[in-house]
Amino acid sequence: MAKIPLSKVFLNDEIRAAAAAALDSGMYILGRECEAFEQELADYTGTRHAVLSSSWTAATILLLQVMELSAGDEVIVPSHTAFPTVEPIILAGAKPVFVDVDDSYCMDPAQVAAAIGPRTVGVMPVHLYGHPADMDAIQQLAERHGLWVFEDCAQAQGAMHRGRRVGSIGFASGFSFYPSKNLTVLGDGGCICTNDDRLADGVRMLRNHGRKSKFTHEKVGYNLRFNEIQAAAGRVALRYLDQLNAHRREVAGHYSRRLGELVVTPPERGWADPVYHMYVIRTPDRDALAAHLSAQGIDTGIHYPVANHQQPAITGLYSELPSLPNTERWVDEILSLPIHGQMSLEEVDRVCDAVISFIE
Ligand SMILES: Cc1ncc(COP(=O)(O)O)c(C=O)c1O
Repeated sequence: MAKIPLSKVFLNDEIRAAAAAALDSGMYILGRECEAFEQELADYTGTRHAVLSSSWTAATILLLQVMELSAGDEVIVPSHTAFPTVEPIILAGAKPVFVDVDDSYCMDPAQVAAAIGPRTVGVMPVHLYGHPADMDAIQQLAERHGLWVFEDCAQAQGAMHRGRRVGSIGFASGFSFYPSKNLTVLGDGGCICTNDDRLADGVRMLRNHGRKSKFTHEKVGYNLRFNEIQAAAGRVALRYLDQLNAHRREVAGHYSRRLGELVVTPPERGWADPVYHMYVIRTPDRDALAAHLSAQGIDTGIHYPVANHQQPAITGLYSELPSLPNTERWVDEILSLPIHGQMSLEEVDRVCDAVISFIE
């Protein structure tokens, strides 16, 4: 029986043709395709700027460098997220203050309120698995305490919060085009989005050796640029994003209808139009279920098996770390089932049948 992958990159003849045309253009880095992709990403997100870089991580490191955080500054971040969410905070010299998630797997605003202290400068909500965090509550807290909000949209390209695209709500946001993500570019890639001209200019400069013009370097920067072939591919993929996300929602709906009585299926808040980067269930017998599915050719994943506040890189840095009950319990129960923008409903049924046969 054919294997069912956990995720799949969107690739069609239009993408192949666009990449081939960029290949033949003779221009490979930060040219017309990158410029057009940035404009289209900004228009899609609803921000004045999108600035491409080689990954979410690269773009966010540059952004936090432009924001000039100070040693001892604190940034509130969920522990339950991909480890990269935390890295730019630490690399900027600040301290991540970890909070728990609620059952939407996004940061719990009540915990954010409790974590705000005199050194807090910002909050980094993660729209995990493609479900928007509670941005109304987070923005209100941030405004009351004079904090910035950076949205980690790596898993949520196209998701909406009260009819507004995620990535346009906070002060700035970051997107990833890594091959498993909802919008892909045939390799690594990412961008930040913001309405702030100074931030966008700063990231543009730092990604390209701190250049203002060809031979004037205003800052000591990096080479974290983006390239034309990938931008050309991404521009085509962006035109299909809404359609692919709508299909992900259909897949998720089908899973939830069939599995809702047997396992904990992902909730959808009233304000949210999630885009199901992952479809994550919870069950106490997670490892045995994963083995059962694997034996039937069905790939699964765990996002993520170790809470970030318990990662060796973190416990080695900070002596006092919080206890986060939901995060710590759920890392042993979560299982990501296959989902992507072209998955057939027959494949979804095969996965559901396998889950049901295991549980019953
Ligand atoms: C929530 C989240 N944040 C950040 C990242 C980092 O993205 P990138 O691989 O483009 O640096 C990822 C991807 O793994 C992610 O899932």
